[in-house]
Amino acid sequence: MSTGKKTVHISIWGSGSGSNAQSIIDYFRAKPEIKISLIVSDNPEAYLLERGRKEQIPVSILNVEQRKNPEFLISLVHDYQVDLIVLAGYLRKMNSVFLDTFEGQVLNIHPALLPAYGGKGMYGHFVHEAVIRNQEKTSGITIHFVDGEYDRGEIIFQESLEIGEGWDATKLASEVLKLEHKKYPEIVEDICKKISHSH
Ligand code: GRF
Repeated sequence: MSTGKKTVHISIWGSGSGSNAQSIIDYFRAKPEIKISLIVSDNPEAYLLERGRKEQIPVSILNVEQRKNPEFLISLVHDYQVDLIVLAGYLRKMNSVFLDTFEGQVLNIHPALLPAYGGKGMYGHFVHEAVIRNQEKTSGITIHFVDGEYDRGEIIFQESLEIGEGWDATKLASEVLKLEHKKYPEIVEDICKKISHSH
Protein backbone atom coordinates (compact mmCIF):
# COMPACT_ATOMS: atom_id res chain seq x y z
CA MET A 1 0.00 0.00 0.00
CA SER A 2 1.21 3.48 -0.77
CA THR A 3 2.29 5.67 2.12
CA GLY A 4 3.55 8.42 -0.21
CA LYS A 5 6.66 8.67 1.96
CA LYS A 6 9.32 6.55 0.29
CA THR A 7 12.44 8.41 -0.85
CA VAL A 8 12.59 8.72 -4.62
CA HIS A 9 16.09 8.01 -5.96
CA ILE A 10 17.32 9.80 -9.05
CA SER A 11 20.29 9.03 -11.26
CA ILE A 12 21.58 11.86 -13.47
CA TRP A 13 23.43 10.96 -16.68
CA GLY A 14 25.52 13.40 -18.73
CA SER A 15 28.52 13.72 -20.98
CA GLY A 16 29.68 17.27 -20.34
CA SER A 17 29.49 20.26 -18.06
CA GLY A 18 26.57 19.13 -15.96
CA SER A 19 25.10 22.56 -15.29
CA ASN A 20 21.58 21.09 -15.43
CA ALA A 21 22.66 18.38 -13.03
CA GLN A 22 23.92 21.09 -10.69
CA SER A 23 20.61 22.95 -10.82
CA ILE A 24 18.80 19.70 -9.98
CA ILE A 25 21.21 18.90 -7.14
CA ASP A 26 20.79 22.42 -5.71
CA TYR A 27 17.01 22.32 -6.02
CA PHE A 28 16.67 19.03 -4.13
CA ARG A 29 19.24 19.80 -1.44
CA ALA A 30 16.52 20.83 1.00
CA LYS A 31 14.07 18.12 -0.07
CA PRO A 32 15.18 14.84 1.51
CA GLU A 33 12.27 12.93 0.01
CA ILE A 34 14.10 13.12 -3.32
CA LYS A 35 17.71 12.02 -3.46
CA ILE A 36 20.30 12.21 -6.22
CA SER A 37 21.82 8.78 -5.64
CA LEU A 38 24.05 8.22 -8.64
CA ILE A 39 25.74 10.22 -11.38
CA VAL A 40 26.68 8.43 -14.58
CA SER A 41 28.84 9.56 -17.46
CA ASP A 42 30.31 8.02 -20.59
CA ASN A 43 33.05 10.68 -20.54
CA PRO A 44 35.81 10.42 -17.91
CA GLU A 45 36.61 14.12 -18.53
CA ALA A 46 33.05 15.38 -17.96
CA TYR A 47 32.91 18.22 -15.44
CA LEU A 48 29.64 16.62 -14.32
CA LEU A 49 31.77 14.01 -12.50
CA GLU A 50 33.62 16.74 -10.60
CA ARG A 51 30.31 18.20 -9.51
CA GLY A 52 29.16 14.80 -8.31
CA ARG A 53 32.33 14.20 -6.33
CA LYS A 54 32.09 17.64 -4.70
CA GLU A 55 28.55 16.83 -3.64
CA GLN A 56 29.62 13.39 -2.42
CA ILE A 57 27.28 11.68 -4.81
CA PRO A 58 28.52 8.30 -6.11
CA VAL A 59 29.71 8.55 -9.72
CA SER A 60 30.05 5.85 -12.33
CA ILE A 61 32.01 6.19 -15.57
CA LEU A 62 30.83 3.86 -18.30
CA ASN A 63 33.33 2.37 -20.72
CA VAL A 64 32.25 1.22 -24.19
CA GLU A 65 31.56 -2.38 -23.14
CA GLN A 66 29.52 -1.30 -20.14
CA ARG A 67 27.44 1.11 -22.23
CA LYS A 68 26.47 -1.74 -24.54
CA ASN A 69 25.76 -4.22 -21.77
CA PRO A 70 22.15 -3.96 -20.57
CA GLU A 71 22.68 -6.40 -17.67
CA PHE A 72 25.51 -4.22 -16.37
CA LEU A 73 23.46 -1.03 -16.71
CA ILE A 74 20.33 -2.53 -15.16
CA SER A 75 22.23 -3.88 -12.18
CA LEU A 76 24.08 -0.56 -11.72
CA VAL A 77 20.82 1.33 -11.53
CA HIS A 78 19.23 -1.32 -9.29
CA ASP A 79 22.20 -1.17 -6.89
CA TYR A 80 21.28 2.45 -6.15
CA GLN A 81 17.52 1.75 -6.08
CA VAL A 82 17.04 4.30 -8.82
CA ASP A 83 13.43 5.21 -9.61
CA LEU A 84 14.07 7.87 -12.23
CA ILE A 85 16.90 8.41 -14.71
CA VAL A 86 17.41 12.03 -15.70
CA LEU A 87 19.48 12.63 -18.82
CA ALA A 88 21.13 16.03 -18.80
CA GLY A 89 23.46 16.41 -21.75
CA TYR A 90 23.99 12.65 -22.17
CA LEU A 91 25.11 12.31 -25.78
CA ARG A 92 25.05 8.54 -26.32
CA LYS A 93 22.16 6.58 -27.63
CA MET A 94 20.72 4.53 -24.77
CA ASN A 95 20.75 0.75 -24.90
CA SER A 96 17.32 -0.42 -26.09
CA VAL A 97 16.98 -3.37 -23.67
CA PHE A 98 17.81 -1.00 -20.84
CA LEU A 99 15.18 1.48 -22.07
CA ASP A 100 12.54 -1.26 -22.31
CA THR A 101 13.30 -2.20 -18.71
CA PHE A 102 12.94 1.38 -17.50
CA GLU A 103 10.14 2.47 -19.81
CA GLY A 104 8.57 5.70 -18.56
CA GLN A 105 11.43 6.20 -16.10
CA VAL A 106 13.99 7.93 -18.32
CA LEU A 107 13.71 11.68 -18.95
CA ASN A 108 15.64 13.96 -21.26
CA ILE A 109 15.84 17.68 -21.88
CA HIS A 110 16.37 19.11 -25.33
CA PRO A 111 17.30 22.76 -25.98
CA ALA A 112 14.66 23.41 -28.67
CA LEU A 113 10.99 22.88 -29.36
CA LEU A 114 10.81 19.27 -30.51
CA PRO A 115 10.01 17.78 -32.95
CA ALA A 116 11.78 20.73 -34.60
CA TYR A 117 15.57 20.76 -34.30
CA GLY A 118 15.86 17.25 -32.93
CA GLY A 119 17.37 13.97 -34.08
CA LYS A 120 20.85 12.68 -34.71
CA GLY A 121 23.51 15.39 -34.72
CA MET A 122 21.14 17.98 -33.24
CA TYR A 123 22.77 18.64 -29.91
CA GLY A 124 24.51 21.47 -28.14
CA HIS A 125 25.53 24.39 -30.31
CA PHE A 126 24.35 22.70 -33.53
CA VAL A 127 20.76 23.15 -32.38
CA HIS A 128 21.08 26.87 -31.72
CA GLU A 129 23.08 27.52 -34.88
CA ALA A 130 20.34 25.89 -36.97
CA VAL A 131 17.61 27.87 -35.22
CA ILE A 132 19.45 31.18 -35.82
CA ARG A 133 20.31 30.24 -39.41
CA ASN A 134 16.63 29.65 -40.13
CA GLN A 135 15.72 33.04 -38.60
CA GLU A 136 13.21 31.51 -36.21
CA LYS A 137 11.28 33.90 -33.98
CA THR A 138 11.08 31.46 -31.08
CA SER A 139 12.92 28.55 -29.59
CA GLY A 140 12.65 26.90 -26.20
CA ILE A 141 13.02 23.69 -24.26
CA THR A 142 11.43 20.27 -24.39
CA ILE A 143 11.37 17.69 -21.61
CA HIS A 144 10.37 14.23 -22.78
CA PHE A 145 10.49 10.56 -21.95
CA VAL A 146 13.21 8.69 -23.80
CA ASP A 147 12.57 5.87 -26.21
CA GLY A 148 14.87 4.15 -28.69
CA GLU A 149 15.10 7.10 -31.10
CA TYR A 150 16.99 10.37 -30.60
CA ASP A 151 14.71 13.10 -29.25
CA ARG A 152 11.49 11.14 -29.67
CA GLY A 153 9.34 9.81 -26.89
CA GLU A 154 6.38 11.36 -25.16
CA ILE A 155 6.71 15.09 -24.57
CA ILE A 156 6.03 16.06 -20.97
CA PHE A 157 6.74 19.77 -21.02
CA GLN A 158 7.67 22.55 -23.41
CA GLU A 159 8.30 26.22 -22.90
CA SER A 160 9.15 28.67 -25.61
CA LEU A 161 11.13 31.86 -25.54
CA GLU A 162 11.19 34.72 -27.97
CA ILE A 163 14.43 35.22 -29.85
CA GLY A 164 15.54 38.85 -29.52
CA GLU A 165 16.81 41.11 -32.28
CA GLY A 166 20.41 40.46 -33.12
CA TRP A 167 20.78 37.29 -31.00
CA ASP A 168 23.43 34.90 -32.18
CA ALA A 169 23.63 31.18 -31.38
CA THR A 170 25.72 31.85 -28.26
CA LYS A 171 23.19 34.28 -26.80
CA LEU A 172 20.33 31.92 -27.66
CA ALA A 173 22.19 29.01 -26.03
CA SER A 174 22.66 30.95 -22.82
CA GLU A 175 19.02 32.05 -22.63
CA VAL A 176 17.79 28.51 -23.32
CA LEU A 177 20.14 27.10 -20.69
CA LYS A 178 18.76 29.54 -18.08
CA LEU A 179 15.27 28.30 -18.86
CA GLU A 180 16.45 24.68 -18.57
CA HIS A 181 17.97 25.34 -15.15
CA LYS A 182 14.72 26.82 -13.91
CA LYS A 183 12.29 24.28 -15.34
CA TYR A 184 14.07 20.90 -15.36
CA PRO A 185 14.17 20.56 -11.55
CA GLU A 186 10.48 21.49 -11.29
CA ILE A 187 9.40 18.94 -13.87
CA VAL A 188 11.65 16.28 -12.31
CA GLU A 189 9.97 17.03 -8.98
CA ASP A 190 6.47 16.61 -10.48
CA ILE A 191 7.44 13.22 -11.86
CA CYS A 192 9.05 12.16 -8.57
CA LYS A 193 5.82 13.02 -6.76
CA LYS A 194 3.88 10.79 -9.14
CA ILE A 195 6.40 7.98 -8.60
CA SER A 196 6.23 8.45 -4.85
CA HIS A 197 2.44 8.22 -4.82
CA SER A 198 2.45 5.10 -6.94
CA HIS A 199 4.76 3.21 -4.57
C1 GRF B 1 21.63 21.21 -22.38
O1 GRF B 1 21.46 22.28 -23.25
C2 GRF B 1 20.59 20.15 -22.64
O2 GRF B 1 19.42 20.65 -23.22
C3 GRF B 1 21.26 19.27 -23.64
O3 GRF B 1 22.62 19.30 -23.31
C4 GRF B 1 22.93 20.48 -22.58
C5 GRF B 1 23.56 20.03 -21.30
O4 GRF B 1 24.21 21.05 -20.63
N1 GRF B 1 20.61 17.99 -23.66
P1 GRF B 1 24.75 20.77 -19.17
O5 GRF B 1 25.75 19.62 -19.25
O6 GRF B 1 23.61 20.46 -18.30
O7 GRF B 1 25.47 22.04 -18.76
